[in-house]
Amino acid sequence: MSSWSASAPTHKLSPMPDLSGKVAIVTGAGRGIGRSHALALAQAGARVVVNDLGAGIAGEGVDPGPAEQVVEEIRAAGGEASTNGENVADFAGAERLVQQAVEEFGRLDILVNNAGILRDRMLVNMTEDEWDAVIAVHLKGHFAPTRHAAAYWRERSKAGEEVRGRIVNTASPSGVFGNVGQANYGAAKAGIAGFTIIVAQELHRYGVTVNCLAPNARTRMTEETFQMDAPPEGFDPLDPANVSAVVVALCADEAQAITGQVFHVWGGAVNALRGWSAGELFAADEGWEPDTLLAELVARFPDGASPPGMLAGMQSAGGRSLQAAD
Ligand SMILES: NC(=O)c1ccc[n+]([C@@H]2O[C@H](COP(=O)([O-])OP(=O)(O)OC[C@H]3O[C@@H](n4cnc5c(N)ncnc54)[C@H](O)[C@@H]3O)[C@@H](O)[C@H]2O)c1
Repeated sequence: MSSWSASAPTHKLSPMPDLSGKVAIVTGAGRGIGRSHALALAQAGARVVVNDLGAGIAGEGVDPGPAEQVVEEIRAAGGEASTNGENVADFAGAERLVQQAVEEFGRLDILVNNAGILRDRMLVNMTEDEWDAVIAVHLKGHFAPTRHAAAYWRERSKAGEEVRGRIVNTASPSGVFGNVGQANYGAAKAGIAGFTIIVAQELHRYGVTVNCLAPNARTRMTEETFQMDAPPEGFDPLDPANVSAVVVALCADEAQAITGQVFHVWGGAVNALRGWSAGELFAADEGWEPDTLLAELVARFPDGASPPGMLAGMQSAGGRSLQAAD
């Protein structure tokens, strides 16, 4: 085990999976959920590359300060870490990020894709730039580091090494259940869930698992929209540490056979979600004519059919509204 001694999250794992000897990259780890992942992985013994652009909530600006602070916290507690300021949506920058882990710490075992931004707007008012920026940081920002890490692991595997690679992606309840005002963000997050399922299948042969989170936590991203004060005492379901416990568990060697899953996390409720499933079957042996299909649709959906929305989805998955009153 590592010689970790700080006040980083400790309450969930007993005994903590031992990740000593492993090297992790966490993107967007200067703040919020990513910071918590970096601290938790370091606490479990991993050496961590703390990537963060230091951007504002909408992706504006650059500041090395938040990543440096997290590295200081890890080092002060006896862990090993280094900063990286690359933009995860920059393909060459993502390659440099992977190279940094390998050059500084000798290997790469874990990639947590977490960096993200928000540019919420109702669809009818959404600008091209609001769409492009959010899709870039989230969707390409998952693809680019994953692509370069995967090439590294394939090479290790082909060289005869036993690889136990880990990728943990970050979707959102907005992406898997659908949230009004977030067509850009939700589409990117749903894309990340789909990306997870495909990449899990592709990288299985190299010994790499690929899972995904749909987290809920109190960070600047959610504080801006929701009232969500921490309870004065006792368990805090929106502490980002609850999400990091899932990451550390998935990174353990014992989780080698768990892949392609999307986990909704609300406090201590962790759901392995079932996404698109077979649903309602409309079968016609000789194919449908539009009029007979229409009649069948109306008959089978007498009250119509429409998405229930994010809160209903979250509630069915053990979560709650982020509104403090609920
Ligand atoms: N907080 C929640 O409840 C919640 C819910 C669902 C999903 N998420 C997702 O979790 C992840 C973390 O969110 P958070 O709530 O901690 O937000 P946050 O704003 O506190 O942290 C995000 C971090 O990502 C960094 N970042 C932004 N763009 C970057 C880029 N291009 N390259 C590198 N770093 C970049 C920012 O500088 C910031 O430090 C995001 O993907 C977010 O969409 C959060």
